[in-house]
Formats: sequence, C-alpha cells, structure tokens
Amino acid sequence: MGEDSAQGPDVTTTAEQGEDLKVESHDPAVPEAYAAFMRTGWADVERELPAHPVVPRAGLRRARLAEAFPGERLVLPAGTFKVRSNDTDYRFRPDTAHTYFCGNQTTDAVLVVTDGEPVLYARPRSGRDSDEFFRDRQYGALWAGERPSLRELEQSLGLPVRHRDELEAELARTGTKTRVLRGLDAEVDAGTAPDEARDAELARVASELRLVKDAWEVDQLQEACDITTLGFEDSVREWDRVREFGERWLEGTFFRRARAMGNDLGYDSIVGAGSHATTLHWIDNTGPVLPGQLVLLDMGVENRNLYTADVTRTLPVDGTFTPLQRDLYELVLAAQQAGIDAVRPGVAFTSIHQASMTVLAHGLGDLGLLPCSPEEALAPDSRVYARWTLHGTSHMLGMDVHDCARSAPEVYPRGDLAEGMCLTVEPGLYFQADDLLVPEELRGIGIRIEDDVLVTADGSRNLSAALPRTVADVEAWMGSLLP
Ligand code: GLY
Ligand code: MN
Repeated sequence: MGEDSAQGPDVTTTAEQGEDLKVESHDPAVPEAYAAFMRTGWADVERELPAHPVVPRAGLRRARLAEAFPGERLVLPAGTFKVRSNDTDYRFRPDTAHTYFCGNQTTDAVLVVTDGEPVLYARPRSGRDSDEFFRDRQYGALWAGERPSLRELEQSLGLPVRHRDELEAELARTGTKTRVLRGLDAEVDAGTAPDEARDAELARVASELRLVKDAWEVDQLQEACDITTLGFEDSVREWDRVREFGERWLEGTFFRRARAMGNDLGYDSIVGAGSHATTLHWIDNTGPVLPGQLVLLDMGVENRNLYTADVTRTLPVDGTFTPLQRDLYELVLAAQQAGIDAVRPGVAFTSIHQASMTVLAHGLGDLGLLPCSPEEALAPDSRVYARWTLHGTSHMLGMDVHDCARSAPEVYPRGDLAEGMCLTVEPGLYFQADDLLVPEELRGIGIRIEDDVLVTADGSRNLSAALPRTVADVEAWMGSLLP
C-alpha cells in the first residue's frame, strides 16, 4: 500500500469522483483505467432474506406510537458512525428507539412515520457503477462489507424502504406537524425545525412504550442473561490467567463470549478487584487480582437483537470467603433478596430500593457505623447510611442497560411496576479505602449483587438466577470451575 501511494500524485486519477467518498490521504491513487476495470464483471448479489423476527410486532409498536401523535410526522434516525480517533470509528450500534420501531440495524437509516404510515429511508448497498464500493472506507462493500439493498431491507423488515437521498425532499415538505429524535443524525437535525418541547414528547413516548416487554422481548432478555452466565463461567475457568493478568483478563474473557454469541457488551464491563470494587463504574480494569481479595464483576451481554443483561457478582479470589467477607456479603444478599421479594405488579418502583436500603441501614447500624438510629438514617431528609450504599437499587432493563430513561418521572422512576417490566435489583456496600469512619478491616471492600428481574402477574422471575448468589452456592460453583 505504501509503495502505491507514493505514486499517487503522478498518475491520472478519478479524484473528482472521490470527493464525496470517505478516503484517506495514504490511499493509493485511482487511475481511470483501474476504476473503469473495477466497475465491470460483477455478479448480481441480490439475496432473498427471511423476515426479521421483529416484523410481527414492529407494526403494532408503530401503531401505538402513531396513536400518541395522530396526523403527525415522526422522525426516528438510526444514527451514524462515531469517531474513535482520526479515521477510526467505533463499531456502529443503532439508536434503540429506531431499532425498536422497525428492526433496522444499518447505519444512516431514518424511520419516518407519517400518520401511522412508515417509510424507512436507508443508505443501500454501493452500486458497482461508482467508486464507492471499492474506495469508501465507511460504506464501500470491499472495505466495510456488503450492505443490504433497499429491496432486501424492504423484504426483511416488512415496510416500504426508499433511498436515503430522498429524505431531504421529504423533510423539506412542510404542512405536517413533525417531531424528531434529535442528536442522532446531523442532516436530519439541520433539515427540520427544532421544537424542544415537541421533540421531547416524542422521546418520552418512545421511551414509555418500551417499559412493558412482550413475550418475545422476555425471551431476548433471557437469552442475554444466559449468554452472560456463560461469560461469567468462562471468567472463573480462566482464573489462573486472571491471577497472572488481573482485571484485564476478566474483561477480555467476558468480551469474547459476548462477541461469540451476542452482538456486544451492553455496557463497558466493570471489573474491580480489591478497593477498585468501591468505584461504582470502574471500567479502567487495569488492576491486579490478588489472593485474599474480593473481585466485583458487573458485566452484561447484549444479544443480537440488542437486548442486554446487567449482572453483578462479587467473588472471593481464593474461591472461599473469609468470615468478614462472608458476613458483609450476606448482608448485601439479604438486602437484595428483600428487594427481589418486593417486586410485583402495582408496587411503587421506588419501594424496591426502600426494601433493600432498610436491610442495609439496619446492617450498618448493627456494625456500629451509623451516627444515628437506622430509622433516623432512613428518613428522606437524612439518608446518611448512603455514604456506604451510594446508588439506587434498580433501573429498567431492555435494549438499553438503563432502559426507558426518557420516560416522564411520574411514570418511571416514580411510577408503579406492571407485569412485563424488567428491572435490575442491585444493592451494594462500599467502604472506601480512605474512609476514616469505618474500622480498618472494612476499608477497601466493595460488594454488589445484581440480578435481572421480570415482573410477572403475581410476583417476579429472576432471569439471571442461573448464576449462584448464596455464599455456599458461589463457593461450590467456583470450586467446580476453577482451573
Ligand atoms: N451495570 C452498570 C449500571 O447499572 O450502572
Ligand atoms: Mn445495573
């Protein structure tokens, strides 16, 4: 490549055709003879694609969205590539609402629903009659892979699909009240008049419609949890390498399982050994894993339909808990169980947190750490116990790890649970290494236990129950897997 590029300036090129292409300064020159030759002799690669599994439900989802905004035009972009550095992008992950309402996972597509009628504007496969397919680093088939054709998208997604080039004219068409999910697609943002309140309403409704999961979505979440279980098992199986390479090996081992069986991680893995476990979102994962420590693993696989698990286990590096570690672990476990036991339809979302925190506050009182009684510490105008619990116990889970986050506060988080919602229950105790208000032996210990809990008609189902939680079960499970 280096040799060819050195010849670049001396030969006739198709530079004018390259102006709209994503090319780099070190790419070799493209003489007309080469370009012309490249455009000939290719087979027709049109494929027959099966219907995407979301098709039977996406129409209903769009109908519910349209019902909230009768007669209006709703614009939901997939988004595009995000730069990591210079010409290197992150792997593309479409916007959740976009994919929820049509199933598409290709970049640069925009779903437009006008009074209930959907059209997907998509960037198709690059034709063999231009330079794009062999020169463009983002969209060219020979660089980035073959994109589906418009016909293939139409066939697999079961809705009308038009070329993305037609979107500008569609958005310029005035007379229909329009709402846009903003911040995803610069061209869409520039081509539509913003109305902050109106657009926020669309984001809110798109978020709230995802709160209750249907049976297919529950299967997706279960699959994400099951792959996550395998990833945790892989991690313990590699404990000798974990001792050698530390947190980085755990992160890498779990990621391998996520890529092998799912789409990706649902979020950056949190791997905290020793005092790193007291940093809630420790994603540097650069530390050693040492004998006698606990290691906190907060990891979740996103499956191929983009539903994610979010599971935390805190494991003794030696395979067995010390008496102090066990006592603290069992306190967190009791708090988590109280939270899980509180999950059922009709109760306030916040009551799960309350149930867990009541247990932890009393436990902290028993340890002699509180400056007041547990009841006083639990009062809304005090919350001093939270010095050692830090975060909320639950969040909604779905296609986003912190799912449905744009909902109206009175619906979520201040609303009630309903059958079909899925939430995490994840209390923790965190004693910072420099906390002078706790005995020395507690400093630098962090413990969190997190499961993914579905609200059922009469209670709940723990989707991540395959991973052991009790002291005895964790020790037996590690004992069966340790190398
Ligand atoms: N799993 C990380 C979080 O819930 O924030
Ligand atoms: Mn979580």
